[in-house]
Amino acid sequence: MKAQEILNGMTLDEKIYHLVQMTTMTYLKTDGTNIVTGPNSRMQLDKEYIYEVGTLLNLVGAQTMIDALTNFLNGSKKKVTPVFMQDVIHGHRTLYPINLGVAASFNRELAHDLAAMAAKEASLDGVSVAFAPMVDLVRDPRWGRVMESSGEDPYLNGEMAAATVKGFQGDMGKYNIAACVKHYAAYGGAEAGRDYNTVDMSERTLRQYYLPPYKAAVDAGVKMVMTAFNIVDGVPCSGNKWLVKDILRDEWGFDGVVISDYSAFEEMIDHGNCQDRKECAYLAMEATEDIEMMSPCYALYLKELINEGKITIKQVDDAVLRILKLKEELGVFENPYRSVNVEEAARVQVGPEHRALARCGAEESAVLLKNNGILPLSKDVKSVALIGPNANTGEIHGSWHCGGKIDETITVLEGFKNIIGDRVKYAKGCDILYNSTDESMIDEAVKLASECEVCVLCLGEHQEYSGEGNCRANIELPEVQYKLLEKVLEVNKNVVVALFAGRPLAISKLDELAPAILDMWMPGTEAGNACANLIFANAIPSGKITMTFPRELGQVPIYYNAYRTGRPKLEEDDFNRVRFTSSYLDMPNSPLYPFGYGLSYTDFEYSDFKLSASKMKRDETLVASVKVKNVGKYKAKEAVQFYIRDVVGSVVRPMKELKGFEKIELDIGEEKTVEFTITEDMLKFWNKDMDFVAENGKFEVFIGKDSRCKPYASFELV
Ligand code: NOJ
Repeated sequence: MKAQEILNGMTLDEKIYHLVQMTTMTYLKTDGTNIVTGPNSRMQLDKEYIYEVGTLLNLVGAQTMIDALTNFLNGSKKKVTPVFMQDVIHGHRTLYPINLGVAASFNRELAHDLAAMAAKEASLDGVSVAFAPMVDLVRDPRWGRVMESSGEDPYLNGEMAAATVKGFQGDMGKYNIAACVKHYAAYGGAEAGRDYNTVDMSERTLRQYYLPPYKAAVDAGVKMVMTAFNIVDGVPCSGNKWLVKDILRDEWGFDGVVISDYSAFEEMIDHGNCQDRKECAYLAMEATEDIEMMSPCYALYLKELINEGKITIKQVDDAVLRILKLKEELGVFENPYRSVNVEEAARVQVGPEHRALARCGAEESAVLLKNNGILPLSKDVKSVALIGPNANTGEIHGSWHCGGKIDETITVLEGFKNIIGDRVKYAKGCDILYNSTDESMIDEAVKLASECEVCVLCLGEHQEYSGEGNCRANIELPEVQYKLLEKVLEVNKNVVVALFAGRPLAISKLDELAPAILDMWMPGTEAGNACANLIFANAIPSGKITMTFPRELGQVPIYYNAYRTGRPKLEEDDFNRVRFTSSYLDMPNSPLYPFGYGLSYTDFEYSDFKLSASKMKRDETLVASVKVKNVGKYKAKEAVQFYIRDVVGSVVRPMKELKGFEKIELDIGEEKTVEFTITEDMLKFWNKDMDFVAENGKFEVFIGKDSRCKPYASFELV
């Protein structure tokens, strides 16, 4: 085997440097000056071995890859091809919607196809590994990185994770790249929604809610895992042997490559868990971390640790071999340049085919949150006043835009022009800043609104108000946007709001004021076309939110699959004060929009709910089914959702849990039967003794349009 052969020929220093990950930039100059100066000087790496590192990160551009790799191989003695890794989060050059949007599609095939498209574009630029999917379960919309996640449900996140992994990796052919699931583990549990903050939860909660999506990615064959910045049970993930060695490798059987997050080894010192870089290296190696991203603990101290007998050469060999095996699978030993191709990249990236798929993605991700009947607009509309800070900008394709370009992104104004030509008129109305107080543009917009038949207001956030390091303590719309909306409503009641945001916002007031709200998330390169298509019914909204929208930030964390309490407040009392129940004095318990919620332009009727039996033995399965009929005026898609509640457990069980979903398409008047098979595995949980089992007893079954659906049947596991 090639990998083993290469390992056998490496010196200890070469092996150790193979575990280091540097930025591609380091190798773009040939005189060597860049290596020891600038941001990399803090690494204090040995110049002799800088061309022996195993992997590189941050790369966009086929020619850049070719230059960097050529320089690298010229400088390297051993010439073991490095592989290039990149954050391919929601597209590479063609951007599709942020992942919270893709999840809202409830469409596994779509998630798969979008990832496959990104893989093709990235592979043509010489990228071999995507630092994706990010599958951190999230409950706090203040956290900027909710945009990268699939939301608050372990099952749905796992399904999206598996689909994305398969989309990236395919059969590991020319246009495929390896996936790297992240951030293991529970990064999404950051306290107070503040990035990089403490994560603290019981093992039960960790296993019940937070770990399943990573496991789903592992089961789908993901090649790499990235550990998270945060602590879990007091120990930073990079040095957390229990998480990485015991659970990920031994319990789940993962034998691929584990990489740290950016400089996270060294940050164990800042966490106060390690004295120095040497201790970081020791703990990380004990945890079986393979690649150290952008900090030098391994490079500077592994040899010393081996000499002192604290770690063994075998541990280092195992780590290097895992990396070499991945490289062998990628085929870079036969062809170091792999799939990079300047001409093909230029032809394929952001080409018509990819734009079309990204547009479908954006259309299917959008969620119609409210509609009093004004939507869809007729294409014969006389005039539309398109107003708002997000109406005429490409800065709505989303944070983590990788190689996506603002000037390639279709603005909403362009999208409208593509459908109704010059019957759309534009006024900005206000700027996008979260703390803006500038009202000087409102009058012009109101004048335009008074002159047009309909107004479409593009409100929300700037794309860089979400993403890494972009957290918000206030998730409402800025006052100036409300002022604009209110003034417009004074002169024209025909108002539609297209919302652009990287997170659920607290928009109770918007829900009161606006006749219709279409949440576009951050829709990617084809943003404007998708938005216009939805508004004029060239596409029918079918997205459903996968992260609860609170009425107010004070309700956070708020999620549908919460545990029950000993003093529940009855649903019918939601808006009443009932003291000594689990409730607020000044706020209902219910959210503004629940998990799974989203409207359509058509109506779907659910009938004939069935459950195949009322008892289930452990080796048996049951079938739950429903008929869904399109009784409205448009051919459209519907995400049919299936939930189960375990009524009594040796430890408390969630109010309900999503256990299945199907996205179906129905013509006008068409009816389909949708079935869900119930298995014993579906009923398992971490019981009182921390065994993963299904307990005998009663289970309630729900099928519906969103997480508010009621149980229609029950069965007993015997
Ligand atoms: C830090 C981020 O947390 C991670 O998601 C990303 O993959 C790395 N930086 C590399 O850019």
